[in-house]
Amino acid sequence: MNKKTIRDIQCTGKRVLVRVDFNVPINENTGEITDDSRIRASLSTIEYLLNQDARVILCSHLGRPKGNRIEKFSLAPVAKRLGEILREEIKFVPDCTGPEVELSVASLRNGEVLMLENLRFYPDEENNSPFFARELARLGDVFVNDAFGTSHREHASIVGASQYLPSVAGLLLEREINALGHILEKPARPFGVLLGGAKVTDKVKLLDNVLGRVDYIIVGGGMAATFLKVQGYEVGRSLIDGSLETARMLIDKVTGNGVKLVLPDDVLVADSINPPSTTENVFIDHIPADKMIVDIGTLTITKFTETLEKCRTVFWNGPMGISEIPDYAEGTRTIARVMANLLATTIVGGGSTAEIMTEMKLAEKMTFVSTGGGASLEFLSGEPLPGVSVLMDKELAAEAVEQLES
Ligand code: 3PG
Repeated sequence: MNKKTIRDIQCTGKRVLVRVDFNVPINENTGEITDDSRIRASLSTIEYLLNQDARVILCSHLGRPKGNRIEKFSLAPVAKRLGEILREEIKFVPDCTGPEVELSVASLRNGEVLMLENLRFYPDEENNSPFFARELARLGDVFVNDAFGTSHREHASIVGASQYLPSVAGLLLEREINALGHILEKPARPFGVLLGGAKVTDKVKLLDNVLGRVDYIIVGGGMAATFLKVQGYEVGRSLIDGSLETARMLIDKVTGNGVKLVLPDDVLVADSINPPSTTENVFIDHIPADKMIVDIGTLTITKFTETLEKCRTVFWNGPMGISEIPDYAEGTRTIARVMANLLATTIVGGGSTAEIMTEMKLAEKMTFVSTGGGASLEFLSGEPLPGVSVLMDKELAAEAVEQLES
């Protein structure tokens, strides 16, 4: 990565404003954090800063409260969980800017952590208001972006605050850019991209960008229905995302580039998305008009497995079916186990695919599990991530850094 990180700057005794992505899943009924991987992923950054005797001010969003203060989106439970993991007291202030926050920051001692309330309680965050960004920046001497998962957003805490402070990458952000960058730069071949989930439109640019360096594109999940429909198959009541024309162009491009497109031969269909529902494993030329595809079929699981086993690099994003419903999760769960046993570099895009790997306790067996869903797709699409672009370049002259730090 060609950006400076916290290792390149002096943090001792400084107020370090760190944007993290602690947007963790929380059980609506119990309020319990069901997957704390995103908190753990930033521990290396927080611990490094604490070892440097910095004063650490963490800020994050949680969910999409759309500018409203909504209690269930409070970061208080997240601060508590971080404290349990670090076995340290994490101070929490129920606001992001203003006198109370400034007072809390002023009383912070070296080696202490303060966490701010959810940034998205303020519409100014998503509007990238310069005023809000400046108020946030007033809290720190240095800005650190460790929120890889939100780095595709032009929000005040991602791009705005960096206009007023020397800004560097955290260690998670560095790991993400290096791991995903490896896929774009020098993947060991054969290289397979395994895509699922419902949306084709989300992945069009990614497919375009990797075409020259990929050997297999394997498509399951809801998006397979769009590809099958383009090829003239009846897909019943399955959801079709995006225009068929886009999918047709993609198929032409993929095959025109000598890349092998691997689609399902059979699928699991059901009457309804809500079980109990009668399911049936059918060949793709026998999908009943009144049913919908809910998972890949048994022959397809074998076919995908055999293709994955030929690869030396695999990137996986998106479940193979409606995996949150146990009856329709067999394809996704089997493929997850196959991924865990591959003798290959295995990289998993964030979002629901990462959650499945964590829930199945397979994340450790992957080469890298990204914490970013949308962000990893945008990065692999070749789009510059705004939250990375604004950070100081590695080769920035020492005088310029001194000037920024003074
Ligand atoms: C994510 O979960 O992908 C990130 O935290 C970004 O969240 P957002 O899609 O609500 O901006």
